[in-house]
Amino acid sequence: PYFIGPECIDYMDKSCLEECPVDCIYEGKRKLYINPVECIDCGACEAVCPVAAITLEGDTDDPARLRLGEDNARFFDTPLPGRDTAIGAPGGAAITGPLGVDTPLVAGHPAND
Ligand code: F3S
Ligand code: F3S
Repeated sequence: PYFIGPECIDYMDKSCLEECPVDCIYEGKRKLYINPVECIDCGACEAVCPVAAITLEGDTDDPARLRLGEDNARFFDTPLPGRDTAIGAPGGAAITGPLGVDTPLVAGHPAND
């Protein structure tokens, strides 16, 4: 699946949101996250991100980047700080709106200038 890497942290351009045909890109506090269950791998988002944050998992072997890929899935399949249940696959970011929370990895990431 596609995932959003570290360049998005604190930048959050959000051009990707408008491109996604299935509305599976969800907004956290410092970063956006692609729902790996809902994404249909169309790749439309990858082309529009101005900082090339969006990556197809098989296209990289950079460990730091892959950690963010795994973390992208964790945003949905484990309860986030302050929540009792995982987000799962809610059926579109328009349904949840911005979630205002990040995974512990992203929350503790150094600031991106
Ligand atoms: Fe982030 Fe790029 Fe989307 S910076 S919000 S992944 S367009
Ligand atoms: Fe949407 Fe990008 Fe997947 S546009 S369907 S998140 S590859």
